[in-house]
Amino acid sequence: MIMNINTSSAFVMVTLLILLIIPSSFFIDAEIMDYPSFVNGPNSWRNTPSTSFSFWESAGVRPILANGMFACGFHCSLDGGDCLFSVSIFEISSEDNSSSSTQVVWSANRNNPVEMQALLELTSEGKLNLKDANDTVVWSPSTSGKSISRLNLTTEGNLVLFDETNHMLWQSFDHPTDSLVRGQRLVSGQILRANVSSAGSSEGRYAFAVIDGKFVAYMDSDPSQSYYQSSSILSAEPEFQNGKFGSFHVADSANFIQLGSDGHLKAYELKESGWEGTDLLPIDPCSYPFVCGNYGVCLEKGCSCPDSVSENEAAFFRPIDFTTPNLGCSAMQPISCESSLLQSFLELRSGYSQRVYTSLFSNTIALKDCKEACLKNCSCKAATYTKGSCYFLSQVDSLKKTNSKDLTFIKVQNSTISDRPHFPERKKQNTSVIVGSTLGAIFGVFLICTFIFLRFKKGFQEVEEDYLDNMLGMPTRFSYEELKNVTKNFSNKLGEGGFGSIFQGTLPSGSEVAVKHLVGFGPVNKSFMTEVQTIGSIHHFNLVSLVGFCAQKFNRLLVYEYMANGSLDRWIFNKNRDLALSWKIRRKIILDIAKGLAYLHEDCNQKIVHLDIKPENILLDEHFNAKVSDFGLSKLIGKDQSRVITTMRGTPGYMAPEWLSSVITEKVDVYSFGIVVLEILCGRRNVDECQLEEDRHLLGLFKRKQEEGQLMDLVDKCSDDMQSNAAEVVQMMKVAAWCVQIEHARRPSMSIVVKLFEGSVDVAGNLNEDFQNGLTLEAMETFASIVLPSMLSGPR
Ligand SMILES: *[C@@H]1O[C@H](CO)[C@@H](O)[C@H](O)[C@H]1NC(C)=O
Ligand SMILES: *[C@@H]1O[C@H](CO)[C@@H](O)[C@H](O)[C@H]1NC(C)=O
Ligand SMILES: *[C@@H]1O[C@H](CO)[C@@H](O)[C@H](O)[C@H]1NC(C)=O
Ligand SMILES: *[C@@H]1O[C@H](CO)[C@@H](O)[C@H](O)[C@H]1NC(C)=O
Ligand SMILES: *[C@@H]1O[C@H](CO)[C@@H](O)[C@H](O)[C@H]1NC(C)=O
Ligand SMILES: *[C@@H]1O[C@H](CO)[C@@H](O)[C@H](O)[C@H]1NC(C)=O
Repeated sequence: MIMNINTSSAFVMVTLLILLIIPSSFFIDAEIMDYPSFVNGPNSWRNTPSTSFSFWESAGVRPILANGMFACGFHCSLDGGDCLFSVSIFEISSEDNSSSSTQVVWSANRNNPVEMQALLELTSEGKLNLKDANDTVVWSPSTSGKSISRLNLTTEGNLVLFDETNHMLWQSFDHPTDSLVRGQRLVSGQILRANVSSAGSSEGRYAFAVIDGKFVAYMDSDPSQSYYQSSSILSAEPEFQNGKFGSFHVADSANFIQLGSDGHLKAYELKESGWEGTDLLPIDPCSYPFVCGNYGVCLEKGCSCPDSVSENEAAFFRPIDFTTPNLGCSAMQPISCESSLLQSFLELRSGYSQRVYTSLFSNTIALKDCKEACLKNCSCKAATYTKGSCYFLSQVDSLKKTNSKDLTFIKVQNSTISDRPHFPERKKQNTSVIVGSTLGAIFGVFLICTFIFLRFKKGFQEVEEDYLDNMLGMPTRFSYEELKNVTKNFSNKLGEGGFGSIFQGTLPSGSEVAVKHLVGFGPVNKSFMTEVQTIGSIHHFNLVSLVGFCAQKFNRLLVYEYMANGSLDRWIFNKNRDLALSWKIRRKIILDIAKGLAYLHEDCNQKIVHLDIKPENILLDEHFNAKVSDFGLSKLIGKDQSRVITTMRGTPGYMAPEWLSSVITEKVDVYSFGIVVLEILCGRRNVDECQLEEDRHLLGLFKRKQEEGQLMDLVDKCSDDMQSNAAEVVQMMKVAAWCVQIEHARRPSMSIVVKLFEGSVDVAGNLNEDFQNGLTLEAMETFASIVLPSMLSGPR
């Protein structure tokens, strides 16, 4: 009766082996083993919440039978609402016996969950019924009229129904749901079907089966799209059964195999941290037909919406949920059969298409006729043209790069067709009498005018380029009108930066955003688009993410995630004792900033130097997680490297000395970071006009106090918590000192700073010396007092 699993994984593995060899009753504690492995009828079991068995309660399971690693009974969702009659595999937590991670491996009623008070009965007539609370029978296994007398849960996790004479009538192994346990075989004709979503247990579209001796993973659609097809599979053994190839059973190392709601087939093993899955299908992520949801485009860097990044064009698609791009995209204007006159096509970059074409419309047709036919057919949502063949898609699943030269056109509804110079060949149908043709004529004239205008303005070259640039925008593109609505006509101003004003807004999905209206730019151009895409593709927890943008004529707006607690300066320079941040929070903020900068400097595809680190550009979310904002914006102004070097940027007081002379590297951010750290620790600005003359410059004061050995004097006096942690605060000041050395090469990289905080690197012993040698008071003062027009930002 020992259940004292050690935390070391080796021991867990040993225990696991024992689990598999010795009948479990030897060591699973009494409360777990209170259940039989078989029951005889007649009998019934009600799904009532129980508080007496903490182990099972915490697992959401109300067992009827238990055997080895398996339990059979009611398994309810966490809120207790949807319950399944199921077989679960469970693991007992090594920390305390009361919690476990259970996994449903078979269920009877996944499409019809039952409620509390549902009943499982084995009647005196030998029928097994699962009845919902209102007495509706939701499941009853078919035993061809034979009467059941016993339910038996085997050590393998198979629920077996026997008759009086011990003949097996039915077994759950013959009716797999989304999983196979060890010893269970998938034979020809049986199908594993994934859950519909990560939250729903009903049957979804992904399936896995053995067909004609091959393992086939596919998604139901019309016709089905297979994404894996092979006679072999990683770590599962194909076998001959009755001389016929076509079955496999779970590999030795795994406890079960499961087809996830994302279409991934994984083998799960018990690891220290719980169940750990290994992908069994050797295919790339974009191969899963629904990986990016409907209309989602699968790219190496993630999911995106089909979109145009060319000028003056509203977006046609947007993510259903900004925070989870793989949920797919929805059309801004739903496609309507009634207004087919106002439909057009968004052409994907050549080579992008759905993995499997749906129905062949014609295999000898011109591109132009293919498109026209799709426009005429209401159920055609997109068309793919390849090697003279025209396919219609009645539903658009995820799109990916195929190797071919496929041309795919997605049908879109009206909006700003008139701005689209590259679909001039669309012909209007005269079928709908005068209204249609009049509209058409007006439309046509407008189209031609626009086309001529655009050609004139930009030259033919660039029109061509726009065409190629179609789609694959990372952040969502909004129209100016949309953002006007989102911000309630720019009514709630959050602040003002050097780039322009920031407004609070709420997207239709309900997410709050901050919309930055950039000022002082010329007309929208290509490099703007490129940079917006670069910035939009950078994602890190400590960087404020760009969710969208608008580029229309002279309007440029950037849409960022909303940060509830505003910028850091509001908190650290506040003299209100009640609002003073604790040492713990300040330390966390410093580490957050360091991580964000380390990512920008070292982990992005393209190194990004922020150039304007200061408390106004550090934003805090509702939990005081700090995120660096406005990174990459300097690139929006001019791409030309030499300008970056020669144009004085940044904010006085935070700018590194080398701005005056030498080459600008990412070390200028390290310097500004050091200043910000000192400000956070001391609770005052670097240059504070309210202080006595001699104390005005924090760096000068810092140097003096250091020489006197009185750094403690500098710790923010507004906060008792800071005072009581003064010793640690002073340690942190030394890190700041390392960052503000004059000689930029001596400053640490941001990743070293992060490591320093995490304790894996020591501050060099001669740091103090360096600091003093490098920094003369004169240099600091001269530098700090230079007041230059700041191009990047002023105070908000
Ligand atoms: C787990 O169960 C074992 C055996 O019943 C018992 O000795 C041990 O104290 C329990 N541990 C905890 C954390 O409850
Ligand atoms: C029983 O309840 C389920 C859902 O709670 C419902 O779908 C079903 O129609 C009900 N049946 C009867 C007979 O009321
Ligand atoms: C339960 O089923 C297993 C496997 O078929 C069998 O070995 C065992 O004897 C059965 N137990 C009862 C009580 O029928
Ligand atoms: C499928 O749904 C059931 C019931 O909600 C759940 O226990 C199981 O973990 C789900 N399977 C997957 C692969 O998510
Ligand atoms: C319209 O398209 C669907 C497929 O999207 C196809 O099955 C149907 O035959 C087409 N109808 C006509 C009239 O072409
Ligand atoms: C597009 O269609 C919607 C309704 O479907 C309509 O309200 C809107 O005015 C149309 N826009 C244009 C530019 O035609």
